[in-house]
Amino acid sequence: MTSESRDYIFVCTGPTCGERGGKLLLRAWKDSLVERGEWVTRRVVPVQCFGECATGPNVCVHPRGEFHAAVDAREAETVLERLVAAIDAPNPAE
Ligand code: FES
Repeated sequence: MTSESRDYIFVCTGPTCGERGGKLLLRAWKDSLVERGEWVTRRVVPVQCFGECATGPNVCVHPRGEFHAAVDAREAETVLERLVAAIDAPNPAE
């Protein structure tokens, strides 16, 4: 496993996103991925600001480069399932 073969979910925990649920998303998703044994292949990483504060909390998924705005921390587990499903789906651009 190399760092290039991992999936990364970048979660903004900057001043605006962090207060709107970014910090809760980061903690919930990390705990969930660890519990599911997926921490080796998927990581959540805090980011300080995407420069899109008005739409936060914001999330960016790598390697797809998908940007998600206004992510609801109350739906953390459901949103994580959708993100993981999208990551695992065949990429039509490939
Ligand atoms: S604080 Fe999240 S985009 Fe700026």
